[in-house]
Amino acid sequence: MHIGKGDGTAQAKQGELARSIRQSLGARSIVMIGLMGAGKTAIGKRLAASLDMPFNDADQEIEKAAGKSINDIFAENGESYFRDGERRVIARLLNDGPKVLATGGGAFMNAETRARIADMGVSVWLRADIDTLMMRVSRRDNRPLLKASNPRAVMEKLIGDRYPVYAQADLTIESREVAHELIVEEIVQALLACNKLSRPPLSEVS
Ligand code: S3P
Repeated sequence: MHIGKGDGTAQAKQGELARSIRQSLGARSIVMIGLMGAGKTAIGKRLAASLDMPFNDADQEIEKAAGKSINDIFAENGESYFRDGERRVIARLLNDGPKVLATGGGAFMNAETRARIADMGVSVWLRADIDTLMMRVSRRDNRPLLKASNPRAVMEKLIGDRYPVYAQADLTIESREVAHELIVEEIVQALLACNKLSRPPLSEVS
């Protein structure tokens, strides 16, 4: 592929934006929050690539630590065991250097996790409507909370319970059926305009 002068300039500009965001983040991470099917992992991975930052998925780390799938953790150990692991894994990942971190849909509902994210992260809520969420989650069978006779009713209840709490996120981006690159670009622009990034993390203020 021929990379013309224009492409080179665009790439240099992109690299400069990425560097500036990484610098303002310091030790903080970008934390993706939102309901199941919002695109936290898919968008988070692309965002990490475009900012040249590491990516972690909290659910995958929980599965790794437990040596079994989330379905099996819920079935064999119960939800509260999973939530406890989720809280600990996210605390560890947030202390472990800047990254883009995709969290499971319930993680931000924990007050301790929310406080940690507020200190050591910039939270990005990917908000999506019920039809988009249901279309996406119906593709896979890996969500124990949706193994119900009426998964749409479960999702509606989660929207009612969680959206007021997700609204505390630093940034809100509408997740919709458009190219992932477009959503990533919107996040990058929102990060550049984010006041929080001009201040150091609370834990670094003496
Ligand atoms: C959950 C969301 C899931 C996973 C677990 C519970 C939730 O993650 O953590 O099944 O409570 O919303 P995703 O949001 O990545 O699907």
